Amino acid sequence: MTTHQLSHSLISIDQLFMLNGKNEVPELDRINQRYLEGLLVSHWGKAPLQKESYYWNAERFGLQYSTLYKSLSEQDQRKILELLSHWNLSLSYYIETSGGLYSAKMLELSENKNERAFYSIFAHDELVHQQLFTPFMQGPVENNIDFHPLLRPLGQAILGQSKAVLIYIVQVLLEGFGLAHYQALKEDCRSETLKNTFGKILADEARHHGAGLVMRDQQILTSEDKQELTTLASQFIRALQDADWIRKAMTQVLGPLSSDQNHLIEKEINRPQVLEARRQKLAHLIKSSLPEEVYLNLERSRVFDHSAPKASV
Ligand SMILES: [Fe+2]
Ligand SMILES: [Fe+2]
Repeated sequence: MTTHQLSHSLISIDQLFMLNGKNEVPELDRINQRYLEGLLVSHWGKAPLQKESYYWNAERFGLQYSTLYKSLSEQDQRKILELLSHWNLSLSYYIETSGGLYSAKMLELSENKNERAFYSIFAHDELVHQQLFTPFMQGPVENNIDFHPLLRPLGQAILGQSKAVLIYIVQVLLEGFGLAHYQALKEDCRSETLKNTFGKILADEARHHGAGLVMRDQQILTSEDKQELTTLASQFIRALQDADWIRKAMTQVLGPLSSDQNHLIEKEINRPQVLEARRQKLAHLIKSSLPEEVYLNLERSRVFDHSAPKASV
């Protein structure tokens, strides 16, 4: 795919994420694999990687408080944790893919040698991160990006925005959110190897976000850009509120849950408080990352408010 095609507005999100790549070239794949294998050895050494069936305990998801979860067999509990681990790694894989797409777009939009060099290194970093996650997965990465509501609006954001909006939304806001998210995944991780891997990735992400702050201060936003930023930030906040993997994993393992069971899980795992904490974190990040006018627009449209109706801004 060329950068010209990447910016074409008719390209679909599935094409953007290369979910069904066409005309694969096996020899190119072998060349890539040889290079990446060397890179992975330089990161982890030659010893075979210790794969776990799941990487985060029940406590990471608040499941230790769920009566239903505690009543399950060890086997069903394990299946739920395996699914949650798989989705976390798949989401990380697609976040890295999005970083790669973002850097391809920014290479096209670079205006000087420094920017071009920076985004070339950025693209390489994101591909390496993606490859660092893959060996920990027990099965193939999810082949449908709708397993998390953030990915489709993220793809759409990368496809159709001005350079200034892209820098604000992807490199400052989302990389900032990603830093906190990866940090939390690292802290709770059961595998020392995956923990170290998150540590290495976090150092790169901090550089990406830091450079994003420098780039942000060079941009002049039009009033349309600010409107666009308001719409995108609002979509991301809603997507992060809609994500509901715990009940999804339980349903997948146990079959449909009754409405009483759904309510009880929500109450026992403290979902309202978890979502409130997430909204507060996002509000804080948005306040420090985006123009004040955008933050005030979002406040006025009550996207940070739990009881607000789902109106668009
Ligand atoms: Fe990354
Ligand atoms: Fe990044």
